[in-house]
Amino acid sequence: MRSSFHILLLPGDGIGPEVVGATRTVMDVAAEHFGVELTYEERKIGGTALREEGEPVSDETLEKAKASDAVLLGAVGHPDFDRGPVRPEAGLLKLRKTLGAFANLRPVTAIPALLASSTIKPEVLEGVDILIIRELTGGAYFGEKVEGEDLASDLSVYTREEIERVARVAFEAAEGRHGRVTSVDKANVMATGRLWRSVVAEVAGEYPGVRLDHVLVDAAAMFLIRDPKRFDVILTENLFGDILSDEAAMLPGSMGMLPSASLGVPGTPGIFEPVHGSAPDIAGQGTANPYATILSAAMMFRHSLGRPDIAGGIERGVSVALEAGFRTPDIGGKNGTEEVTQAVVRWAAAGEGVT
Ligand code: NAD
Ligand code: IPM
Ligand code: MN
Repeated sequence: MRSSFHILLLPGDGIGPEVVGATRTVMDVAAEHFGVELTYEERKIGGTALREEGEPVSDETLEKAKASDAVLLGAVGHPDFDRGPVRPEAGLLKLRKTLGAFANLRPVTAIPALLASSTIKPEVLEGVDILIIRELTGGAYFGEKVEGEDLASDLSVYTREEIERVARVAFEAAEGRHGRVTSVDKANVMATGRLWRSVVAEVAGEYPGVRLDHVLVDAAAMFLIRDPKRFDVILTENLFGDILSDEAAMLPGSMGMLPSASLGVPGTPGIFEPVHGSAPDIAGQGTANPYATILSAAMMFRHSLGRPDIAGGIERGVSVALEAGFRTPDIGGKNGTEEVTQAVVRWAAAGEGVT
């Protein structure tokens, strides 16, 4: 087991610095508790980088990312840049492409302590445990773009190889879970959807222990709310995965609860980031929910750093803090980012629950 890791921090815009700062506090306490050494380097990305470095991510930052053990990212996006010509989001897309982070793992679980505060009935939510696997470096996000006054287009391209590799990630994940993959596409309309469906079905042949079904994306959006327990692993393309995961955030109850891991081939640093954005409406108020980013750090320890023990410790800290009632306003509480963070780290200092 390795015990020394170098992490690149990319706080980004809006609430990004607030949630990454909180998460660094948790990682430091966890590192001390488990006797590992974490070194950090911090760089700019998104609007902050555009403003200060003239581009949404510099080549130097990309080199630092490649040389790190893992990247922890806050969020990018700022209304100042909504009229272009270069947007902050381009920095994140370039980072994902540069690291070859083609598989985006977005776990969605119902949280017992939050069941009663959701807008969805507790009996629909109880026991929900979904892993969304979103293809992250293909599709309409990366196809050729035309942008004119009177015409615009985003070309969506998928190759067999791009579908195969992300499908394998999904089937392998399902083998370690409940053995079911639901592949979500728009095969009734899109050519990419038909290729997606047939390649995923072929790959399924390599995993006889996993049951595959196909659901059209519009129906999948409905089933996510009507009967989320029907899903184990959801495998889908870039754009659909983006939309479905924000919808799925309402199962735990807030955007502020969903972590993610963006992974490439083994040995490449992963990017760990909350699913939410820069939340300009609440930035700078000290009320941002840090749980999603803290849980993303747990995913970092599990998926990139080979330390599931530390991941489990952080996840326990989060559960205990939630059980003890530490909640930001988005999940029905009155605590600020700092109070929630201190509640999460107290388990490590005391080696036990929060009181
Ligand atoms: P958003 O996720 O930033 O916010 C949507 C809503 O959820 C807002 O009301 C916000 O206050 C709330 N919210 C989000 N995260 C929260 C948290 N941690 N705690 C409490 N409340 C939270 O989405 P948006 O408003 O559509 O986008 C804002 C900007 O963020 C845009 O520029 C967008 O491109 C960008 N964005 C970036 C990422 C990323 O960096 N990965 C993801 C999504 C959106
Ligand atoms: C996400 C975000 C990004 C995406 C944006 C900011 C480029 O919404 O990570 O979900 O669409 O992938
Ligand atoms: Mn999104």
